[in-house]
Amino acid sequence: MDFASSNINKYNEINDMVSVRRNSIKVTFKKMELKEIQSDSLLEVAENKVLQAFKINQKEIFVEDDGLFIEALNDFPGVYSSYVSKTIGNVGILDLLANKVNRNASFKSIIAFHDGHKFKSFTGEIKGKIPFELTNVGWGFDPIFVPENSDLTFGQMDLKTKNKISHRRAAVDKFLKWYLNPRQK
Ligand code: IMP
Repeated sequence: MDFASSNINKYNEINDMVSVRRNSIKVTFKKMELKEIQSDSLLEVAENKVLQAFKINQKEIFVEDDGLFIEALNDFPGVYSSYVSKTIGNVGILDLLANKVNRNASFKSIIAFHDGHKFKSFTGEIKGKIPFELTNVGWGFDPIFVPENSDLTFGQMDLKTKNKISHRRAAVDKFLKWYLNPRQK
C-alpha cells in the first residue's frame, strides 16, 4: 500500500506501527509535494490531497493530514498548522501563548484512502497541553506538545512510546481495521 507525503517522519511512524502488527499491511513511501487547498476543514484538505495523489499514482494510496488545535487561540493553527510551523514556528506559538493560563490543545490526524472507486477517511485525536518552555527535540510540533497523562513532550518520547498513544496511531488503527476486514469494504 502506498503512502503519499512530503514528510518522511510521518512515514517512519506509520511504518513502525504497521510493521509490529501481526495482521497488517506493508506501506511504501511515495514522496509527493501535494497542494493544500484553502479550507477550514482538515477532512476536506485530506480528501483533496488523496485525489491528487491517486491521479499521480494510479493505484490505491493513502495520505495523512494533521492539525494542532490550541484552545486559548480558538483552535488556531488548526488547518493552517503547516503554514504556521513554517512561518512563526514553535517559538512563535509559545510567544502567542505567553500570557495564557489555558494550555489545552489537541492534535488531530485524518487519513484519507482512495483506490479509484472507494473513498474513505479516518480520524484520530489526542488531547494534551502546550508547555511554557520549548523542548529542543522532535520534529514539527513535537517539542511543544505534551500528551495527556504524560510529563514529556512527544519530542522527548522515543518513537515507540509516541506511537502507542498518538493522534496518528488512532487514525492508523481505524484505517487498518477497515482495510483488513473485507466485509466492511
Ligand atoms: P500536515 O499539513 O499534515 O503536514 O501537518 C501540519 C503540521 O503539523 C506540519 O507542520 C507537521 O510538521 C505537523 N505535524 C503533523 N503531525 C505531527 C506530529 O506527529 N508531530 C509533530 N508535528 C506534526
